[in-house]
Formats: sequence, C-alpha cells, structure tokens
Amino acid sequence: MTLERWSVHRYQMPHLHLHSIRKLSDALEVDSQRGVFRISCDSAAGIDHELLPMLESLRDPRNALWSAIQRRDSGAAELLPMLRELDHLGLIRDCHGVDTGQTQQAIALALRAWSADLGRDIALHGEAAGLLLRKLAERLAADSDGPLSLALSEPSFPILTIMLQARYLRANAPSVLGLLIQGLLAAERRARLGENGAWWNGIGQLPAWAEEDWLCGLIEPHTIAPYLAAAGALLRDVFGEGAARRAHSARSEPGAALSGINFAIDLEGDVARVLADLGASAALTAVADPLLAPRVVRAAFLQEYLVTCRFVECIAPLLSRRFAEPLRSAVHRYFEEEMGHEKFERENCLRLGISAEEIDEALPMPLHLAFIDIITTLAAESPITFFCASMFTEGFIGGEDSIMSLAEQAFPHDPALLHQIGHHVAVNDVADHRGVGRDWMSRVPFVSPHLQSEVSEVLAYLAELNWRMWEQLVQTCAAEQAHGRQ
Ligand SMILES: [Fe+2]
Repeated sequence: MTLERWSVHRYQMPHLHLHSIRKLSDALEVDSQRGVFRISCDSAAGIDHELLPMLESLRDPRNALWSAIQRRDSGAAELLPMLRELDHLGLIRDCHGVDTGQTQQAIALALRAWSADLGRDIALHGEAAGLLLRKLAERLAADSDGPLSLALSEPSFPILTIMLQARYLRANAPSVLGLLIQGLLAAERRARLGENGAWWNGIGQLPAWAEEDWLCGLIEPHTIAPYLAAAGALLRDVFGEGAARRAHSARSEPGAALSGINFAIDLEGDVARVLADLGASAALTAVADPLLAPRVVRAAFLQEYLVTCRFVECIAPLLSRRFAEPLRSAVHRYFEEEMGHEKFERENCLRLGISAEEIDEALPMPLHLAFIDIITTLAAESPITFFCASMFTEGFIGGEDSIMSLAEQAFPHDPALLHQIGHHVAVNDVADHRGVGRDWMSRVPFVSPHLQSEVSEVLAYLAELNWRMWEQLVQTCAAEQAHGRQ
C-alpha cells in the first residue's frame, strides 16, 4: 500500500472558495471564510491578464485547470507553487459530496444477511437460544466492561471469548461492536418472528460510545466482515457440544504474595499442566496424516502471518505506560524488535507455496482473530497478565518453536525449505524472545494473591484458546480437504 501524503492533488473536487476578489492598484484583495488576504504580482499587467483571470477560473470546480492539475499535466506544473500557498491559507475547498451512505448501506446489507442466517440457525435451538442472544446483546451494550475477574466467571468458552473480544472492540472498533449488538438483536427477532416477520429495522441507533466511529465513516465493510464471520462461528458453537470451558486455574485459593519472577516461573508450570490436561493438540494428530499435514502447516503459517501483522498493535498500549526503568526500556526494545517481523512470516508463506494473492485475501480464523484482540486488550487493561501471556506469543522458555517442529514433520524430505523457513525462528532466538516474559516479570517486585488468581485464570483461558485455535485450524483444513479444495 502506498500512502500518499497531503497535497493539493488530494482534493477530489477542488475550487477556490472566495467570497469576492477586489482589484487594488498593485495587488488583489480576496475575501474568504478564512479572512481577507492580499495577493500581489510582479506587474500590474500580470494582475490584469494572468492572476485575476486565473483566480476567477479556479473558483469554478469544473474548470479545465483543475482537471489538468489533478492529471498532473506538465502544463499545469507552474501553477503548483501558488496553489500550495492558497492551500496553506485554507482558500481551497472540496465540493465533493460528504456521503457515507454507500458504505453504510453495504455494511447494513452484510449485517442483515448475517442476522438472517444466525436467526434461522438459532431458531432450531428453541426459545431459550433467542433469549440467550438478547441477554448477550444487553451485556455487550453496557456502558463499561466491568472487572476482568467478573468476566472470567462465564462458564461458556465461546461466550467468554466474545465478551473478552468485546473489550478490545469497545476501545478500538466501537462501531463494530455496536453493529454486532444490533445484528444480535435482529437475529433474535428473526428467530422469534420467522423469516416473514418484521425482524429487520435497519441498523438503527448505535450506542453513544460507537456513534463517532460510525457517523464519521471510520469503519469500512472490509473491517467488519471477519468480525461477523468470527462472531457467527462462536455463537453457533455456544449451542454445540464442547461449549463449556475446559480449563481453569488450579490457583483458586489465595496464597501468599509473590515476586514477579517467582510468580512467572510458577505460572509456566501451571500452564504446562493445563495444556497436558487438555490432551494432545489436534496439530500432533494432523501431522501424522501425510496428506493433511502440509495443508495444516501452510494454514498455520498463514494464520501466524496474519497475527504477526497486528502484533505490534498488541504491544502498543504498553508503550505509553510510565513503568519504572528498566522495564519501560525493555518494553520499548521489544516493540522495536517485533516491528516489521511480518515480512519474515510472509516470506515463509510464499516459500510454502501460498501465492501473494492468497496471502492478501486471507482472513484470520475466528479464534486467531479473538486471540490477537484479547492479547491487545490485556496489554491495555492488565500489563502483568500481558507479560505472563508472552509464553503464548513467543513460546515457552527452553521449548522449541511448535510451528517449526510441525513443518519438520510435514515436510521431512525438503531440508532446503526447512532451512529457509527456520530463518525467522533463528531471528527470535537471537533476541531470546522466549525469555521476554521472565525478563519483564523480574522487574515486577510484588504480585498480590488476588492478582495471581486473576492472571492465572486468564492464562488458563488463553491456554484453552490456543489449544482450540489448533483444533479449529485442523478441522477447517480437514473439511477443505474433504471437499477437494486447494
Ligand atoms: Fe518475537
């Protein structure tokens, strides 16, 4: 993507916005909304024959001079210095219509289709299912999220995931959350009133916290699409088998206060036990299938790329915190070291045979999207939790890179490929990122028993989320294989 900077070329339908032009003996005086200005010229003849007619022409947005400037015709280049001056003075305006209608209509259509499908499916689960949707919409519409510890008491894995992801959306994409609430309410009406009932009332009014984002047109259909897909998948999972959370912290009883480093080391052991209790990862079963394994590894690298593209966003909320040194510098160093890492992941995807178009069109899977959003919200809400959660983003200290060891099993006869894609893992090793959580936590002198309980419960949830991310990825790949898709 090329990011063009501001210039007079960026106006869509420019015109010189002047109330009047008055001729003085040696200059022109222009009266505008921004005030009265004098524009001079080298000669009186120049004023009469060049400057005045040109300014008059530029007052008309349909004048050919503007088209020549927008086409960057060489003949119009000499006008640019003067146009830049006029632009700096705020005398050029855009009469291109202010209209977010088309975009909002496209979003409304997508939301209507989403609600229709969800309502139809939810109706199969009876009245209680509709009620659950309405209750969820009401919880999401609240003005604040409430304490994290309260959210963690939710027994359903998909609902907890939606609630945690909503904390991210409320701060970072408020209109997406507002639209999801309206979509949920519409789906509930669709389930209750049936296809031909009056279940769709349009988008209606979004909550006050979402209005600016929505009314100013800061959201585009491309942004909301993966959220609709993800929320739709999670909501259907609510009524499926295996919706109940499977992992909880064993540290429910408040113990003694601990230093950060000792707590971090304890947690590594706790999380390893939680993962062992969850059972073998679906990835391990998948790599035993020589047909499925390469597909799973490619999909895993593609998802890793999509997560990495947003990874510095996760760290960003920590940058403005006034942590005591050297913690603050350590966090800033990590941000710098992670910046731009997605290019390694992209190269790995290309080496694995995924085309550039496929990479650009790929969407994050629902749980991968939830993971990156939740990690970002944790960085903003609870830095200690984020520090401890680094084991899920960087891997366990002393452990091996799980995606790399899968690749080794999936492509045993391609050492050249393995050597190439191992390069980024080596980059991570040089910076010793697997030790980053211990590094940060060693700078945290005190963790209260209450915070220990909360952090370890979030980490148990994240362990389950990671476990289910692999399950979802493998199931999706197996379904694609069964349907003969590439
Ligand atoms: Fe890293």
